[in-house]
Amino acid sequence: GWVRSVRSQKEVLFLHINDGSSLENLQVVADPSLGTRDLTFGSAVEVQGKLVKSPHRMQNMELKAETIRVVGPCDIWSFPLKMKERHPLEYVRQFPHLRCRNNTLGSLLRVRSEATAAIHSFFKENSYVHIHTPIITSNDCEGAGELFKVETSNEAMESAEKNHFFDVPAFLTVSGQLHLEVMAGAFTHVFTFGPTFRAENSQSRRHLAEFYMVEAELSFTESLQDITQVMEDLLKTATSTVLSKCPHDVELFHKYIAPEQKVINVTGRCCSPFMLISYSEAVEILKQAAQTFTFKPEWGCDLQTEHEKYLVKHCGEVPLFVINYPYDLKPFYMRDNEDGPQHTVAAVDLLVPGIGELCGGSLREERLHFIESRLQRYLDLRKYGSVPHGGFGMGFERYLQYLLGVDNIKDVIPFPRFSHSCLL
Ligand code: 4AD
Ligand code: MG
Repeated sequence: GWVRSVRSQKEVLFLHINDGSSLENLQVVADPSLGTRDLTFGSAVEVQGKLVKSPHRMQNMELKAETIRVVGPCDIWSFPLKMKERHPLEYVRQFPHLRCRNNTLGSLLRVRSEATAAIHSFFKENSYVHIHTPIITSNDCEGAGELFKVETSNEAMESAEKNHFFDVPAFLTVSGQLHLEVMAGAFTHVFTFGPTFRAENSQSRRHLAEFYMVEAELSFTESLQDITQVMEDLLKTATSTVLSKCPHDVELFHKYIAPEQKVINVTGRCCSPFMLISYSEAVEILKQAAQTFTFKPEWGCDLQTEHEKYLVKHCGEVPLFVINYPYDLKPFYMRDNEDGPQHTVAAVDLLVPGIGELCGGSLREERLHFIESRLQRYLDLRKYGSVPHGGFGMGFERYLQYLLGVDNIKDVIPFPRFSHSCLL
């Protein structure tokens, strides 16, 4: 492991080493003669000895060292992390290649790993089929113009118009939904969980250029409640699994990174039932708010983050579903509610405290005549055994922000170099 502290006394040498498996260090007790000049904070060591029950109340076991070998020394003067210091996230962000040696990032990466496994097992236990949807695609699912184009580095080839590597323009995927919809024509429950890319140039603490999205698609689904139920179950199950698998890692965030989150414990937040209001009700609530918003709330306008946060607060700081958004605000695939005079679609966004939108989903427009003017293949899916269906997507990094109370999304990803859309 890596040395987290060295304490040399006359009679005994104490080391704390960490191998990344947990927040807890292993205490090594050695004869001072085993210490060398290279045995410093940050160095990589191999220790052999006996694991014995520890006399100290703070730990179960300790290692009585017989040999200590410094595998990789560490120059503590130039090493940016310091022994026993709690470095703020803003500080460690400057050292993307070393920040995983820091407790906070260590905890974050273990939580990421447990949350990934928990999400996969939730779907597996509920008989969903996992589909690997493509990363390079020619479809633009959301139609919001936030695409990264894929080309070869061969400029001569790319400039000769007809010789593109692919025969059609190709992009990095913004969502696996359309591919999941294809599979939902043969499997009633499917999901995907992979990297997603958006060329969004927003100055925000909630947007990445590369992020992970969890997406599910359910066939024979005729009501939005079937979709919101899965969203709620997924969040509650994944969260309680993460809390039971790595309570100390989560606690570190709640204690030191987002202490104000302590008032609302995560289990409490997740156990209480989520609330549900319609978009029209949401606009009414916003109009009656004492607070003035930068964007004036108006029926037909998108809900801004400031609106979303207000709504969540208004409803008691619990996760809140907002359903039935204006037809004109949402992508082509959402199911027409055929209502009036205010025309809406069967869309749902899940808003959570501190973040705003965490998931977005809808019933899909399965009726051929409603979308005849759209994509040919999307239409074909409606000709051959078309069933009512719907699904949703959840941003994994935003889930981690929510779970851990992390303010800047950049702090919940392993390698931030190209992930962030701006230099916040
Ligand atoms: O709301 P979105 O755009 O929905 C879809 O893409 C649907 N096709 C999903 C589906 O129904 N299968 O994105 C889903 C979620 C958002 O709610 C948000 O949490 C996250 O993905 N998200 C981002 N996370 C980080 N950085 C970005 N740039 C994000 N854009 C969306
Ligand atoms: Mg959305």
